[in-house]
Amino acid sequence: MKDHELQELLSRMTLEEKAGQLVQLDGACFGTRGITTGPQEALGITQETVDMAGSTLNVLGADTVRRIQENYLKRSRLGIPLLFMADIIYGYKTIFPIPLGLGCTWDPELIGRDYAFIGRESAADGAMVTFAPMLDLVRDARWGRCMESTGEDPLLNSRYGEAMVKGLQGDMVPGKNIASCIKHYAAYGAVEAGREYNTVDMSEMRLRQDYLPAYKAGVDAGCRMVMSSFNVLNGIPATANKHLMVDILRDEWGFDGTVITDFASIYELIMHGVAADEKEAALMAFRAQTDVDMQTGCYANNLADLVREGKIAEADLDRACMRVLKLKNELGLFEDPYYQADALKAQEIINDPAGKEAAVQTALEACVLLKNNGVLPLAKTGVRIALIGPYADTGDMLGLWAIHADRSHSVTLRQAFEQKLSPENFRCCTGCKTLDDPAELGDFGNIPVVTKNPDEETVRQWEKEAIEAAEWADVIVLAMGEHTLQTGEGGSRTDITLPAPQKELIRKLAAYHKPMVLVLFNGRPMALSDVEPYTDALLEAWFPGTYGALAVTDLLFGDANPSGRLSVSMPYTTGQVPVYYSHGRTGRPCAPGQRSRFTSRYLDAPNEPLYPFGYGLGYHKAVYGETKPDKTCMKSGETLTVSVSVRNDGDREGCETVQLYLHDCAAAVARPVKELKDFRRIVLKPGEEKTVQFTIDEEMLKYVHADCSYAAEAGTFEVMTGPDSERLSCAVFEYIQ
Ligand code: NOJ
Repeated sequence: MKDHELQELLSRMTLEEKAGQLVQLDGACFGTRGITTGPQEALGITQETVDMAGSTLNVLGADTVRRIQENYLKRSRLGIPLLFMADIIYGYKTIFPIPLGLGCTWDPELIGRDYAFIGRESAADGAMVTFAPMLDLVRDARWGRCMESTGEDPLLNSRYGEAMVKGLQGDMVPGKNIASCIKHYAAYGAVEAGREYNTVDMSEMRLRQDYLPAYKAGVDAGCRMVMSSFNVLNGIPATANKHLMVDILRDEWGFDGTVITDFASIYELIMHGVAADEKEAALMAFRAQTDVDMQTGCYANNLADLVREGKIAEADLDRACMRVLKLKNELGLFEDPYYQADALKAQEIINDPAGKEAAVQTALEACVLLKNNGVLPLAKTGVRIALIGPYADTGDMLGLWAIHADRSHSVTLRQAFEQKLSPENFRCCTGCKTLDDPAELGDFGNIPVVTKNPDEETVRQWEKEAIEAAEWADVIVLAMGEHTLQTGEGGSRTDITLPAPQKELIRKLAAYHKPMVLVLFNGRPMALSDVEPYTDALLEAWFPGTYGALAVTDLLFGDANPSGRLSVSMPYTTGQVPVYYSHGRTGRPCAPGQRSRFTSRYLDAPNEPLYPFGYGLGYHKAVYGETKPDKTCMKSGETLTVSVSVRNDGDREGCETVQLYLHDCAAAVARPVKELKDFRRIVLKPGEEKTVQFTIDEEMLKYVHADCSYAAEAGTFEVMTGPDSERLSCAVFEYIQ
């Protein structure tokens, strides 16, 4: 449709019809089950409201989409199609590693390609908009939604955000690309004490320095939608927060797309205690230019009246409605309301070997080798291997947000091991329960995961088999981790260690003094100091996706060389969190190993994490040279080149992620001890040496000042390069203005 046609359409709409475009309802309202991802309250809406609702969520499948759209259009006075949105977070049917794993690839280009595939696969089955990527920065590992984030660093998150948005949206071709809705704006990753849906209170300086950059990158990349977060930010819930939504998002960043709430978050303004009733909640959210109300009756039942009462200008209702109409128009829905959804085409794409290849490749890059005493890589012959643990033979390695996937299609670790080993050298068993009481974890979106433990006799039998396998084996590979429902939305924990039954089994098996390799499947940086000493090698696999087991096995057996690097710090203990590399300074810093009382430290744990941000091992041996700036002074308007050489002294090809950090030594504001400014992935053949050059420009020296201005200051800077955020060599330069 041409712009004037859209305007003409708008002019024919009643107030109720305009408000209707701003209402999103789930599948149950359209006679299908859909997937429920929030509390189900009675909405207090009429059939008329359903008939006028502008969009729905998490209803997919080409045939279902076609059927619902057809029925909907029959009842629509003006023939405005329904918009289908969905949570396609890191895969639709072909599931990629969880975003925390994607973060560990340090390979935004690859992730952009993956998201292009994800867009293609889901668009063919009727998806038009996805609630992804989630661009919340995470530093508190207690929060279950760490799994949905690419990590703790603003730069890294921004690069991924940009790549994901561009990958999903491509050229916005109907049936091939989908619109991206970035979320959860803003600072949802900083909920107090890591407790889900909790409040956030932080300085504007910190907000702008750390939390906003990734959302801004998503907006700059052209995302068509933004989702408001559940949390209160500095006293005002995000959904009604004019400073966030209007001053920053609309006025400063120039975003003119659609803002949608998170699930029922307008209604939650009442629960937060800032609105007396649904009508006031609707008014507050609308005034903050929150356009679409997900799954409540607040807008449907009140917006038209608020206009009639003069509390909302009709022009503002028109603007919000037009944003939705424009999106529908851009998606081509007025020409093809079915978005070319086609069950056969969808099936073809789902079965396309390119998807499988991409998912395996990404899982290879996402896994992080945390420890290796030389037991890895494993030999394929002449060694008896016992694969033990709750993740040894399950397709449930997809993580919580794989809500549209069929878990029975995943390759299990046992199946992948069987491709490498002859049967006489391989045994596999479950060994123990994942955790003591899965029933406590609640239900989520009806995803079929184990929520009941077997009887005690079965559990005893499992342990017996594990002990027999351990006695028989030359090497034990433990496949353990968190229960899927211990992570993701509503998955906050105060104890982020391995669940008790698994720790107990590790201790028992350690008595057999066999080399032990622990492969971890989990959705947050866990505190591993109580199990790490029992292991000879540790491979962090996260939830690696439909074909992740193939990647894990290739890495364990050395058919691929691990290259993943942590995008989050992994703590020693839960009590250390939030622990992150770009922390502030203190007036009484504690040098490692120092025990003086009057320094900033814990009595019972180190300050540093067990494994730092940026860290990861491989089977090659990288040797880093010194950090070499090409000059000692950088004048305003100039750039400075920093070189570092990296040599592979090992006997196999390996990939290194060379990292560049900066620190402003004396600034108007106490600056973080270091901040990642750039990185480069390089591949080195055995014996090969490469020199990596980074360019430092003024932009990299700028920071957010106390008055929220953004500028660089003259003075001394430390520049650091190395393989992770701790093993760095440092040089200094002066910046002169
Ligand atoms: C709530 C979650 O916070 C959000 O991430 C998701 O997109 C919506 N529900 C819709 O399912």
